[in-house]
Amino acid sequence: RPVIRTHHLQKWKQEAKRWGMLTAYDYSTARIFDDAGIPVLLVGDSAANVVYGYDTTLPVSTDELLPLVRGVVRGAPHALVVADLPFGAYEASDAQALDTAARFCKEGLAHAVKLEGGVRVSSQITALSQAGIPVMAHIGFTPQSVNGLGGFRVQGRGDAAQQLIDDAIAVQDAGAFSVVMEMVPADVAAEVTATLSIPTVGIGAGAQCDGQVLVWQDMAGYTSGKTAKFVRRFGEVGSELGDAARAYAAAVEDGSFPAAEHSF
Ligand code: KIV
Ligand code: NA
Repeated sequence: RPVIRTHHLQKWKQEAKRWGMLTAYDYSTARIFDDAGIPVLLVGDSAANVVYGYDTTLPVSTDELLPLVRGVVRGAPHALVVADLPFGAYEASDAQALDTAARFCKEGLAHAVKLEGGVRVSSQITALSQAGIPVMAHIGFTPQSVNGLGGFRVQGRGDAAQQLIDDAIAVQDAGAFSVVMEMVPADVAAEVTATLSIPTVGIGAGAQCDGQVLVWQDMAGYTSGKTAKFVRRFGEVGSELGDAARAYAAAVEDGSFPAAEHSF
């Protein structure tokens, strides 16, 4: 099996081959996804929610994300591993973005980084790309701006479509190798995908994007509570794990575990 790098995603766009990307936050899960042939793994700042239990992605730090990246890279010998730059760690300047991205590539051994924003971060995207760090952009609904955007809302509707298209072109011109579009109308995402030469990755952006991405816990049914409209659950890992834990505790309590074959 090939080791996936950014040029493969570019080739797949030319071939109209679609691909699924997942988040991953640890070695064991990354191994499962790499074995399953998932070509791109994102160590998302969604770790804020699903690993650290914060309400939004704003509080998570580079120091909290870095060890997760290291684990995922060790577990995924074939996948392209993309590390999210957290809120507050790249917006101030090109130098700040370079410092943070370099930490993810040097200490985390990530193959690429992702950051949120279009036109407003094009300078950072250029600086990182020129430093040899592949950048995945993220436009549309950008969770780190949830307070500025006034909640979890679809972006690029109606008159706002032109801004989304401008953002997409800006990140491509700045040197991004790919762009995530989150919660944008399917027809606008389709137009962006047809317009750009770099691959688009959708999450709540319809079926015409070159790739799709989901938070793995949403994908596998490992999240509690209400999930977004754009999620499909492909498994019930949460209830499986709960059943395993209950069966284990019951076996310990009734004395059936450990049995003779588990003992020395
Ligand atoms: O942090 C994350 O998981 C993401 C994806 C959902 C695109 O940014
Ligand atoms: Na993210």
